Amino acid sequence: MAEKQDITMDKIVSLCKRRGFVFPGSEIYGGLANSWDFGPYGTELKNNIKQYWWKTFVHGRDDMIGLDSAIIMNPKVWEASGHLENFQDPMVECKNCHERFRADIVDLSASCEKCGERRGFTDFKQFNLLFRTHIGPTEETSSIAYLRPETAQGIFINFDNIVNTTRKKLPFGVAQIGKAFRNEITPGNFIFRIREFEQMEIEYFFNPKKENWEEKFEMWLESFKKWMNDIGVDSKKLYFHDIEKEELAHYSKKTIDVEFDFPFGKKELFGLAYRGDFDLKNHKISYTDPETQEKFIPHVIEPSLGVDRMMLAVLVSAYTEEKTEDDIRTVLKIDKKLAPIKVAVFPLMKNKPELVEKAKDIFDKLKIDFMCEFDDNGNVGKRYRRQDEIGTPYCVTVDFESLEDGAVTVRDRDTMKQERIKISELQNYFKNNLQ
Ligand code: GAP
Repeated sequence: MAEKQDITMDKIVSLCKRRGFVFPGSEIYGGLANSWDFGPYGTELKNNIKQYWWKTFVHGRDDMIGLDSAIIMNPKVWEASGHLENFQDPMVECKNCHERFRADIVDLSASCEKCGERRGFTDFKQFNLLFRTHIGPTEETSSIAYLRPETAQGIFINFDNIVNTTRKKLPFGVAQIGKAFRNEITPGNFIFRIREFEQMEIEYFFNPKKENWEEKFEMWLESFKKWMNDIGVDSKKLYFHDIEKEELAHYSKKTIDVEFDFPFGKKELFGLAYRGDFDLKNHKISYTDPETQEKFIPHVIEPSLGVDRMMLAVLVSAYTEEKTEDDIRTVLKIDKKLAPIKVAVFPLMKNKPELVEKAKDIFDKLKIDFMCEFDDNGNVGKRYRRQDEIGTPYCVTVDFESLEDGAVTVRDRDTMKQERIKISELQNYFKNNLQ
């Protein structure tokens, strides 16, 4: 069996393109650097990750509720949150080709990564990562707005609305999934660092006099360790990096960066931060305890995940190459609940109407409960290979015997074992095995 070290980004990117997970953005117009479109299977995978997150942390807990706030907000939000002033990276420019780099990442004593020349770099300038846009028909300063760089602020500014309408009492949390935008100086590494990405964020509010923040922090860290284990993120590739005081973001009192060993190195997968009362205080929002009538500013713990990065970690964890008798089999051993397609249904031969009809009939029944795909292209071996690369846990083949005995062959993705199952029992079989 090929070792996991053999996984390269080239292999992941190539599988994603070949099998319809991720396509280069604007491809027919020559592309747009570092932009990506999610194909049919990538969209299913991403949705399954988001849905499982929502199911676990919103529906699965009685101290959590959900929100879907606007991407474009009043610019005063970003003034209060500190993003207009502080959300910046140091940038330098190559004196030869004028390519821009992040000064804190690039080796300033080395040759330029882009042109290879050694003419040096300019002094660094601070570059604000907010994406600017204009509201209304004129491009006047008064109409400047920003695409949100994090979903979190939508939660803070709705705190009063949420308390008043849901009657939630502290401690409680608000979850949100949505797009965020950052004008990154150096995007790259496929979908790891992009300018348009999705976040899944939780703001967990509590009374700092009643609750111990360290305990809440630990509770969220443990919850996310379990959640990542549940979706098959390789725990051997995870690292928990306690960020030093001097390196903390402008709003944070403590942050743990959860890092993942990607093929391009150990990098941040997501962050867990204790934001104190920074945001609510800046938005001039407080809370009145309904029992004691005490007025105070709640503190907040924030687990903040990038959906695209999580999807990449899931793909890297699942990507497997196995030596078979005469070949190398590439298979995505993705957790079944995340698999884009749960069951693929094949007629053994495409030109035998009685097989096709039976297979279509099975497909039509199964698709009501499971995400299914019907495939009659090429030979069965090729269909298996394709479904293995998509990560489909089960393939069902209708053959001539099926017409006699009312049974089909069910093949397991991971073991490649095949068993005969009665058509009448298929529904139950998949219900039991796809939990
Ligand atoms: N609200 C806190 C916040 O936004 P962050 O560490 O800047 O914190 C949180 O971002 C997560 O969002 C990151 O850990 C990462 O998973 C994801 N993320 C941030 N910038 C990204 C980018 N340019 N491309 C893809 N994902 C990104």
